[in-house]
Amino acid sequence: MLSVKVNDGLNVQANRELYSSYLYLSMSYYFESIKMLGFAHWMRLQAGEELVHTMKMLDFIAANGGRAKMLPVEAPQFTWASPLDAFKHVWEHERVVTGLIHALVKVAEMEKDDPTIQFLQWYVKEQVEEEESSDRVLKKVKAAGEDKVALQAADRMLGERQFRFPRGFEIFPYASQR
Ligand SMILES: [Fe+2]
Ligand SMILES: [Fe+2]
Repeated sequence: MLSVKVNDGLNVQANRELYSSYLYLSMSYYFESIKMLGFAHWMRLQAGEELVHTMKMLDFIAANGGRAKMLPVEAPQFTWASPLDAFKHVWEHERVVTGLIHALVKVAEMEKDDPTIQFLQWYVKEQVEEEESSDRVLKKVKAAGEDKVALQAADRMLGERQFRFPRGFEIFPYASQR
């Protein structure tokens, strides 16, 4: 059974994960509009991952006696000055999210909620990966600078990214229960 504080905190974080998905989708269409389809692909996968982060958290709430609540999703930024500007934004955004996850762990600790503390470790680890990958990508785009050929090479490279579901995550959990 989740306490009200933990239930609320998880609902708010699920909303931030969905906002992240929305933000990366916005970036994906920005890249499509400037014909950088590799970057657009990378952002689209990023948006997909964030949607999974959202559902995984809402599923945890529901499976632990809480109630998943959909909150209004903020509109993300619409356009960026350059690819570098967008990837800087990703880098900064992931660091903000890491801070939010850590604050949520603190709430669960104060509520002495061990299952939630355990559950959130997945997100703590995921954020380490997200920070590393956004750092790598930002460095690549920074290194390309104004060099069109280098930027196109980075675009092609990011276009090769593949999607993976987190282990144990079921996107259609009700299908087997009907
Ligand atoms: Fe996330
Ligand atoms: Fe993320």
